[in-house]
Amino acid sequence: MLVKPSVPSHYQGLKLRGEPLGWHRILDLNPVGIFFMNILRALLFPAALLATTNFFTGCNKSGSSGSDTIKIGEFASLTGKDATFGISSHEGTLMAIEEINAAGGVLGKQLELLTEDTQCKAGESATVVNKLISRDNVIAILGEVASSRSLEAAPICQQNKVPMISPSSTNPDVTKTGDYIFRVCFIDPFQGTVMANFATKTLKMKRVAVFTDVKSDYSKGLAKFFKERFIANGGEIVTELDYNGGDKDFKAQLTAIKAANPEGVFVPGYYTECALISVQAKELGLNVPLLGGDGWESSKLFEIGGDAVNGNYLSTHYSPAVATDVSKQFVANFAKRWQGQTPDALAACGYDSALVLADAIRRAGSTDGQKLRDAIAATKDFQAVTGKITINENRDATKSAVILQVKDGKYEYLETVEP
Ligand code: PHE
Repeated sequence: MLVKPSVPSHYQGLKLRGEPLGWHRILDLNPVGIFFMNILRALLFPAALLATTNFFTGCNKSGSSGSDTIKIGEFASLTGKDATFGISSHEGTLMAIEEINAAGGVLGKQLELLTEDTQCKAGESATVVNKLISRDNVIAILGEVASSRSLEAAPICQQNKVPMISPSSTNPDVTKTGDYIFRVCFIDPFQGTVMANFATKTLKMKRVAVFTDVKSDYSKGLAKFFKERFIANGGEIVTELDYNGGDKDFKAQLTAIKAANPEGVFVPGYYTECALISVQAKELGLNVPLLGGDGWESSKLFEIGGDAVNGNYLSTHYSPAVATDVSKQFVANFAKRWQGQTPDALAACGYDSALVLADAIRRAGSTDGQKLRDAIAATKDFQAVTGKITINENRDATKSAVILQVKDGKYEYLETVEP
C-alpha cells in the first residue's frame, strides 16, 4: 500500500520533480513501491532508450549537453526535527531558480532543480546525493544547511568532481573536504567570535556556561570558537555540559549549570532543542539570557518555546530589517511567492547559493565540472541578498553577521558585525 508521507502542512502540494513531495521517495523506499517501480522501469526502459537521442549521440554525463535543461541537485531536511531549515532553504533556492528561468535561464537553457529530502537522518545525505549524481547526472549540488549533513555528502561530490555549494553550513571542515566544495556563508570561527565579543562587550558578562550538542559538528565547533574568544576576552567558562540532538529532557544538565551561577549560557544548538532548553531553564529558575548562533533561527522556536525564549540572543546571516535594495526586492518577491511569508536567513542563503551557481555557469560558459568549479572559485563581489559574496582561498565567503534578540515571538535586529 502506498502511504502518503507526512509533510509539514504549509508544504503540502509543493512540487518536487513535478510530483507532490514525497511520492517518488515513498515509491523508492517502500518495498511494495520498489517492486512497483522496478516493473515500471523494466517496462519503460526500452521505450525510453529508443526515444532518447542521447543514447545514440553519446552519453549525457554532464546533465546538460544534449538535454533541454541544466539539472541541479538540492539536498535539504524537508522533514524531521530540523525540518524548517530545509523548508526555508528550499523555498529560497527554488525561488531563485524560478526567477532565473523566467529571465531566460542560463546558457540558453532552463534550470531544473531536483530536490531530495535528507529527513534529518544520519546516512540519508550520502544516499540522496549519490542518487542525484549517479541517477540524475546533476551538474552541481546545493545543500545542506546542517554542517554534519554537508560533511556527509561533501566527499561524494568531491570524488565525483561535482561542485557542491552549501548555502549555510558554517563548520570550517565542510569546505576542507576538497576543492569542489564551497559555501556562500561565513564560518564558525567568525560566528563564535561575534557572540563571545557580544557577551563580553555588550552584555558585560564575565561568567558564562556552555551547553553543547555533542552529536552535531556545528555545535561542537561553535562552542569551541566561542570559548576561545570569551576566555581571550578575560571571561571565565564556569561549567560545560553536553546533550545529544533529539534529547527532550535537559533538567539534569540545567540544574548543574544553575549551580555554577553563570551570567549567561551559550547554547550553540538547533531550534528544537534550544526552545526546550529555554523552557526548562525557566522552570528551574535559571533566569539568565541564553546565547546562540544561526541554528536558533526558526519560526518553530516560538511555537515550542513560547514566552520562555524571550530575551535570548543569537547571531545569524541575514535580517530583513537590513533593507538594502536587493534585500527589499527579495522580501517582496518572497512574500508573493510563499503566501505572505517573511524570509529568514536560511531562505536568503538558499536563494544566494542558487544565484552564485547560476552566475558561475554563465561565466564558465559550460556545465563541465572542472570549468564550473573554477568559475565558482573565481566568484568576486557578487551582489547577493545576504551581502557581497567573494569566494576566498578556502572556498568560504567572508561576510558580516547580524545579532538578533528574541522578543515577543519575533527576532529583533540589534546590530551588524563586519568581519
Ligand atoms: N550553520 C548551521 C550549521 O552549520 C546551519 C544553519 C544555518 C542553521 C543557518 C540555521 C540557519 O549546522
